[in-house]
Amino acid sequence: MSLQDFLSTLDALEGEASAAFETSSDADSLEVARVRYLGQKSGAIRDVQKQMGSIDKSDRKAAGLRLNQFKSNVQTAFDTAKERLSSGSTAGVDPTFDPSLPGNRPTIGHIHPVTQTITHLMEIMGRMGFEAAEGPEVEDPWHNFVALNIPEDHPARDPLDNFYLATAKSSGGNRNTEGSQLLRSQTSTVQIRVMENQKPPVRVISLGRVYRPDDPDATHFPMFHQMEGLLVDKHVTMANLKTVIRVFATNYLGDDVEIRFRPSFFPFTEPSVEVDFFWNGSWVEFGGAGMIDPAVFEAVGYDPEQYSGFAFGLGVERLCMRRHGITDIRDLYSGDLRFLQQF
Ligand code: PHE
Repeated sequence: MSLQDFLSTLDALEGEASAAFETSSDADSLEVARVRYLGQKSGAIRDVQKQMGSIDKSDRKAAGLRLNQFKSNVQTAFDTAKERLSSGSTAGVDPTFDPSLPGNRPTIGHIHPVTQTITHLMEIMGRMGFEAAEGPEVEDPWHNFVALNIPEDHPARDPLDNFYLATAKSSGGNRNTEGSQLLRSQTSTVQIRVMENQKPPVRVISLGRVYRPDDPDATHFPMFHQMEGLLVDKHVTMANLKTVIRVFATNYLGDDVEIRFRPSFFPFTEPSVEVDFFWNGSWVEFGGAGMIDPAVFEAVGYDPEQYSGFAFGLGVERLCMRRHGITDIRDLYSGDLRFLQQF
């Protein structure tokens, strides 16, 4: 065989072997190619090596150099292919798994918007020194009415306006249990409970559920939340009430809020006012407020000559709804996750 023929045989074989290794798509087809070209017993390289003997002695050195280079190139092509397959771009990997896809987000719970509002209100009032107080939701008429200066024949006690419980009326004149129990209709009950158990000065807020038999519509629900504030000390005046409400309003709604006080009536405050805020382009009723009526102080054993104080009560849902642009109170209690997930 001439040197020329030998060299071109090597060139062709080298291209063929490299292509076979490069296109092997798995370990099995690579092994087939390895045996075909590099096999010790019958591989193509072994065969071509045998041809060396038929080459002219003077050309053997050149032929040997090229043969060594050829063997090393084919071996390198094989090693590269083996490396590619074992580094796992496809071998042994589930073809349906795509690691570049985004993962599943865990579903995280939300704090209910009303609870978020309550936390915020407590924070603002806490900075003014008001501590949170609590009372029961099932009340007796003394705390819900009598001590709040709402006598037996007052329309606020109408069974149509209250959720009376079907419990037996107790007798024996215990003022705390006389009459049917009811779901409290206002958080003012907590004022009475706090004053019964504590001497002045008093500075508390109470946040909780109240119940009234209203037909549910966009602005009414038979259960809602109120925040009640109570401050009792010596020399407390209406100016203090206005200041606390103003500081609260600017903290909660912003510095540019306008506040309006309208004369009103509540049995347990004298004088009484309705408080409105001008917010987002309209006046919103904030709630009721006033100076504690001396009759209430007498009911809890405070001396009205010595102490004065104010109270205010506001609807939590109304503030929450205004803040978040919620237009139907029923959405807050529907339990619909699509609604709740927005907060
Ligand atoms: N309890 C009143 C209501 O439910 C609000 C109020 C609280 C008014 C305290 C004056 C003082 O409407």
